[in-house]
Amino acid sequence: MRIHHIGYLVKRLEDALEEFLFLGYEIVKESKYYEDMHQSICFVSNGGYMVELICPIDPESAAWRLLKRYKNAPYHICYETENIRETAQKFVDRNYVLLGEPFKTPAIDNREVCFLINESAGMIELIETEKKNDKTRNFQES
Ligand code: NI
Repeated sequence: MRIHHIGYLVKRLEDALEEFLFLGYEIVKESKYYEDMHQSICFVSNGGYMVELICPIDPESAAWRLLKRYKNAPYHICYETENIRETAQKFVDRNYVLLGEPFKTPAIDNREVCFLINESAGMIELIETEKKNDKTRNFQES
């Protein structure tokens, strides 16, 4: 499956962003605080590799406990799929645990995503492929 991005936990987004820029990354989508998710997110890329910097703000964030455990570290790889529900079911059939139904994420222009976890593969995210002819799904737009 094609990789869309790597999710990377960070303790302080501004400090992390400064380091990623120093490492040669460019900003794809500016830092923004997403109130409903209790986290700030910024997308950066380097040579075709996109990284999602995720900074949980408080214990209400789903990634808060992961941050306490891993500090600054990658924690999920996101893969693109044409049909998120069909693909999620295939993973469930392979003993992945679906962590909640697919939902539209405001961090990526309301495209549908879901998370799954597996004992051998760890955590993965699925994102439904951008639908052509739908201008609201342009990644560059906020
Ligand atoms: Ni992600």
